[in-house]
Amino acid sequence: MQIVQVLLHWCRRLTLRKRGAVLTALLLPVIVYAAVLIYTAHRLLPAAPSRTHRTHRTQREHRPYVLSADGRSLYEEGQATEIASTQICLERRNMVFLKVMKCATSTLLGLFNRFAYKRNLSVALPPGKQIYHNWPYPMTRRDVRPTGRGEYNMILHHAVYTPAVMRALMPPDAVYISIVREPFSQLQSAFRYFNVAEISGVPASARDPLLEYFGDVEQYEKVYMSPAAKSRWCIPDGFSVTRNLMSHCHGMPLGFPPGTRDITRDAAATDAYIRQLGRSFELVMVAEYLFESLVLLRRLMCWRLQDIVFVSSNVAPKTGKERAAYPRHLLEFHKRWSHADYRLYDYFNATLWRLVARQGPGFSREVKAFKAVQSRVEQYCAALYFGDGHAKTNNTIRVPPLVEAASEWTRSFTITAEDCWALGPDPFYLTNKMKEESDTRDEKILRESSKLLDERQHKGLC
Ligand SMILES: *[C@@H]1O[C@H](CO)[C@@H](O)[C@H](O)[C@H]1NC(C)=O
Ligand SMILES: *[C@@H]1O[C@H](CO)[C@@H](O)[C@H](O)[C@H]1NC(C)=O
Ligand SMILES: *[C@@H]1O[C@H](CO)[C@@H](O)[C@H](O)[C@H]1NC(C)=O
Repeated sequence: MQIVQVLLHWCRRLTLRKRGAVLTALLLPVIVYAAVLIYTAHRLLPAAPSRTHRTHRTQREHRPYVLSADGRSLYEEGQATEIASTQICLERRNMVFLKVMKCATSTLLGLFNRFAYKRNLSVALPPGKQIYHNWPYPMTRRDVRPTGRGEYNMILHHAVYTPAVMRALMPPDAVYISIVREPFSQLQSAFRYFNVAEISGVPASARDPLLEYFGDVEQYEKVYMSPAAKSRWCIPDGFSVTRNLMSHCHGMPLGFPPGTRDITRDAAATDAYIRQLGRSFELVMVAEYLFESLVLLRRLMCWRLQDIVFVSSNVAPKTGKERAAYPRHLLEFHKRWSHADYRLYDYFNATLWRLVARQGPGFSREVKAFKAVQSRVEQYCAALYFGDGHAKTNNTIRVPPLVEAASEWTRSFTITAEDCWALGPDPFYLTNKMKEESDTRDEKILRESSKLLDERQHKGLC
């Protein structure tokens, strides 16, 4: 009580002005404290979305590939947006890439291998010296090397789409990606690659082996698929490489192995299967539109421009005739012969262009910029592979790195000789390296797993 009286007495002796100053001094901490409280509460409550946030959200709902308002990935933008973008655009690293036969996939293998190896990701490898995950038979758990690393980030090697097995192997957030190619040019490529004309006995004198083959396709096909055809490489008896090969890679039931279900005779069932694929795969690229496809991939995966550069590989020299040079009846026949592949292609080509249409105005500028960067990378790497007459595999040649200037789409980045060797000309360069590492690291696990009983009915040849 005494203290109060002393204070009141002291207060009465102060002038009016001094009283105001004292009052302010006493109230100031209270005001500051209240301000801090209000600010904190505001931060904790879910804020009403600002305009830009709302744009992102709507676009994410309706346009899975568009990551920012102007249609480009936020990955390359400045520090400030990078912080914001981590919430909506994180580099995605878990992926199943369906390596569809003869669809530019060796080129993409180099690209994906480089991406994975740079980040020390775990790529599923075929067992032993095999090159396929049991293709063209369905993939089983046994068709992947076990790894002491615990999990796989990527499946990249030839495998038939086998969702149950793939889902069990991969992290739940794995993105499924695939590719298709115009079926007639895919046929020409497969026909050459699998040496179909020679194995099926098309006379060497035939002016156009493909035309001759389809002149008597039932007969030639029988010879090619028969157990007597010894020089076939990696292709089991009874498997057609000219008929619906892409659909087969996508796991469509089409009567292989012999005696199994074939849905390709039922157009509605075929279409339903393809629509189902469309729901399972986040992106099906189209080989004819590789640049557009890769920009979509980059945006979908939130990768950087320097991650999608590639070096063309396993591309046969263009000796095949143009599609248009073939008689109409052959083109029409093949369309019926391999009709599931045509339906598959048309469906995903349409899907691709629908996605492109939703990308916003920046998309075609980005494709153009990517093409320019890509052509410089190809030139740079080609000089390295073939320059000075050195052997293709001589990676001791020193060349100054290629520096790409910053652009609307990317910060400045560098391509080194090491990148070129990772990308090509041998797309298996890194695969072999990964296999060697796995041989050493996982020696014990590999030895144990080789002792397990193998009860598979169908074993691939490669
Ligand atoms: C790569 O990842 C494995 C784990 O999966 C780790 O043990 C190893 O040290 C990593 N290597 C490098 C070079 O970061
Ligand atoms: C792919 O679709 C686009 C857009 O519909 C079309 O213009 C193009 O001709 C198609 N490509 C092929 C090879 O069919
Ligand atoms: C590889 O390149 C280096 C440096 O250019 C050269 O000295 C060497 O002889 C080459 N080796 C082979 C095997 O071509």
